[in-house]
Amino acid sequence: MVKQLSIWCIGVFVLFGTNACGSRSTPEPSRDELEKMTAVQRGAIFIKTRGCMDCHPMTEALRATTQEASPLTGMYSSTVIHTDGSTATVDEAYLRDSIINPRARVIRGQPATMPALQFKATEIDDLVQFIKSLEKISRSEK
Ligand code: HEC
Repeated sequence: MVKQLSIWCIGVFVLFGTNACGSRSTPEPSRDELEKMTAVQRGAIFIKTRGCMDCHPMTEALRATTQEASPLTGMYSSTVIHTDGSTATVDEAYLRDSIINPRARVIRGQPATMPALQFKATEIDDLVQFIKSLEKISRSEK
C-alpha cells in the first residue's frame, strides 16, 4: 500500500503540478499538541496537511483555483448525485465511507480521481467533524 500511495503521489504531482501528499511538505503539529485540540481543529489541520485541499476548494468561490472536486463547504447535509444516478444525503456515515473508500460512489460530473488515503479511525472522525462544522459557514454565506 505504501508503494501504491507513493506511485499515486508522483502521478498527481506530474499531472497537476501540486504535491497531493501534503503531509510531506506541511509539517503537522506534534501528537501532544494535536491531543490538546478539539476534533474540529484537528480536522482543519488534516484537511491542509493531507492534501485534501489540493483538489477540494473550501468554498464555491475558490473553485477555479483548485481541481474539479466538490467544495467541502456546503457538502454536509447536501444531496449528491452519483454516476449511476443514485442519490444520497451527506451525513457523518456518508463522509466516513467516502474518505475510506472514495471510489465506491463517485459524484456525477466529477472525475474518479480521489485517492484512498491511509488514516487512523480517529483521524477520519476529526475530518468528518471538521467538514460537518463547515455547514454553518455555508449557511451564513447564503
Ligand atoms: C486527487 C484529488 C483529491 C484529493 C487529494 C481528495 N479528494 Fe475528495 N474527491 C475528489 C473528487 C474528484 C471527488 C468527486 C468524485 C467522487 O465522488 O469521488 C471527491 C469526493 C469527495 C467527497 C464526497 C464523496 C462522494 O462520493 O460523495 C468527500 C467527502 C471528499 N472527497 C473528501 C476528501 C477528503 C477529506 C480528502 C483528504 C483526506 C480528499 N477528499 C482528498 C478528489 C480528491
